[in-house]
Amino acid sequence: MRLTNLTRIFGTRTAVDAVTLDIPQGQMVGIIGRSGAGKSTLLRMMNRLTDASSGTIHFGELEVSALRGTELRRWQRDCAMIFQQFNLVPRLDVLTNVLLGRLNHRSTAMSVLNLFTREERIMAIAALERLGVEQTALQRAGTLSGGQQQRVAIARALMQAPRLVLADEPIASLDPLNAKIVMDALRDINEREGITVITNLHTLDTARAYCERIIGMAGGRVVFDGAPHELTADAVQEIYGSDRHGAGIDETMTSTSINIPAAAAAAARPSEGIGALAAASA
Ligand SMILES: Nc1ncnc2c1ncn2[C@@H]1O[C@H](COP(=O)(O)OP(=O)(O)OP(=O)(O)O)[C@@H](O)[C@H]1O
Ligand SMILES: [Mg+2]
Repeated sequence: MRLTNLTRIFGTRTAVDAVTLDIPQGQMVGIIGRSGAGKSTLLRMMNRLTDASSGTIHFGELEVSALRGTELRRWQRDCAMIFQQFNLVPRLDVLTNVLLGRLNHRSTAMSVLNLFTREERIMAIAALERLGVEQTALQRAGTLSGGQQQRVAIARALMQAPRLVLADEPIASLDPLNAKIVMDALRDINEREGITVITNLHTLDTARAYCERIIGMAGGRVVFDGAPHELTADAVQEIYGSDRHGAGIDETMTSTSINIPAAAAAAARPSEGIGALAAASA
């Protein structure tokens, strides 16, 4: 994916200011920066939830920023989005929520009638198993914990068979244990399927632990772009700036301590396979 001079202006405010980036397929990228830096706006422009004021987005030969109609919908299918607030339909059961990820793959008639094939249902259960939440399949989505809901949202994204996953603060509402499970799931999708994952994160330690490339934004501009080991104290300072008393930022201020003890992580690891489904319903 190639962004060229991508800019978004809201009234008098420039949310994203002439961003130029090249993101090779299969990279795991973390975007960091303080509140208002333009991270969400940048991500939303990538899948065309928000239109750019100027500049272009290309995906290979495809000019994403010029797509309309059916082609735009196809792009949005290729580009799955994960949100901080999960965006499931709370009154629908988990399985239906996951099947909704197939909607853009289907004819309107099938969609309107809410008919899903046997293959699609099997695919949905497999996606839920992969995220360790298959036992919730028949539960209403609104009754799940935040961590479970985000895992269902990732399962739904997988059903889109996306080429890219864009995640906007996917762990900001989660406790450290669920944050780890969700980040592990994103890493797994990136590593196993080679799908590009671009995620906004508000904690530096998570970006360092999971992302091979970190992009730092400040005031709508890219002020850092490099590997985690290149993110020095000075670079952090430039991204996050000083507080209003002029004191420098301390990296622990942007830390979630996702590095939980191994035993606790093992205890919470999603159960695996269809056996777990049977066990849960027994
Ligand atoms: N729809 C909108 N209308 C007007 N201004 C907006 C809109 N969306 C974003 N902005 C402004 O653009 C700037 C960048 O916002 P954005 O949401 O992209 O920041 P962010 O880096 O995601 O912040 P946060 O970490 O708080 O999520 C902010 O000043 C914000 O107020
Ligand atoms: Mg944001």
